[in-house]
Amino acid sequence: MERNIIYNEDCKITLKILQDKSIDGIITSPPYNINTERSDCYYNNGYSELDGLSENDYLEVRTNEFKEFSRVINDTGVICYNISYAKENPILPTLLVAKIHNETDLTIADIICWKKPNAIPFQTSPTKLSRITELIYVFVKKEKLHTFKTNKEVSKVNEKTGQKFYKNYVNYIEARNNDGYQCQLKASFSQDLVNQLINIYFPKGSLIYEPFTGIGTTQLSCIENDCYYIGSELVKDHYEISLKRVGEKRKEKDLQAGTLFGNEM
Ligand SMILES: C[S@@+](CC[C@H](N)C(=O)[O-])C[C@H]1O[C@@H](n2cnc3c(N)ncnc32)[C@H](O)[C@@H]1O
Repeated sequence: MERNIIYNEDCKITLKILQDKSIDGIITSPPYNINTERSDCYYNNGYSELDGLSENDYLEVRTNEFKEFSRVINDTGVICYNISYAKENPILPTLLVAKIHNETDLTIADIICWKKPNAIPFQTSPTKLSRITELIYVFVKKEKLHTFKTNKEVSKVNEKTGQKFYKNYVNYIEARNNDGYQCQLKASFSQDLVNQLINIYFPKGSLIYEPFTGIGTTQLSCIENDCYYIGSELVKDHYEISLKRVGEKRKEKDLQAGTLFGNEM
C-alpha cells in the first residue's frame, strides 16, 4: 500500500484499497451539508454534488464512511473529526455522532473545542451566536475506550502503587482559522490546529488518512511532524492545490534528507 499519496477521487474508492487495520488514524473535516442554493454559501462554491443532501441521506453517507474508517484503522487508532453546522440545521452533527455511536464499533473518547482568532459575525440574526469555536470529535473503538493510543507523557509514578500520573492535556485548542491560502475553498484547516492534534494523538511514523483532503493541510502537518499520510480529494482544483502545497512543504523539509515520495510535485 503506497504511502504519502493523495488520490483525486471519492474517499469511498480509496477506502476500498486500504487494508484492514492498516492506518493509525484519521484527521479530517467532511462537508457540512451546506445548502448550495443559498447565495451566501461559500463552503463548496457550487460543487453541489457534495452537499445539499437530505438530512437522512447525509447521515447515511457519513455513517457508511465511518464503517469503513473503523475497518481500516488499527485497534488502538484515533479519528479526529471536525464538524460544525449550518445555521439551518444546528443539530446535524449531534445526530451524526449519535448514529455513528449506535451503528458502528466506534464511540467518542473526547470532544475538543477549537477556538479560532476570529469569526464571521451573525449581525443579521436576532438569535444566533457568532461561531468562533468548532468541535473536534475524537472517535476510538468502543473496546479500546480506555486503552487507545495517545502521546500523553507520564509526569510521575507513585513508587508504592505504580500508579502513573500524566502531564495535563486540555480539551481546548486555540489555533488559526486556516493557513491564509487564497483559493475557492474557504473551509480549510490550519496547520496550527492539525499540528496540535498530531502532538496529542500521533507519534512520529504514524500513518494518517485524510479522506477529505481539501487543499492538503493535514498532509502538510504530517510532513512537519514526521508522519506518513494517504489522502482523497474529489475536486480536481482542490487536489491540485494540495499536491502543489505538499510538494513545496516536502522540498522545504527534505532539502536535508533529499528524498521525494509518492505523487508530490
Ligand atoms: C471541509 S473541506 C476539507 C478541507 C481540508 N481539511 C483542508 O484543510 O483543506 C472538505 C473537502 O472534501 C472534499 N470532498 C467532499 N466529498 C468528498 C468525497 N466523497 N471524497 C473525497 N473528497 C470529498 C471537498 O471537495 C472539500 O475539498
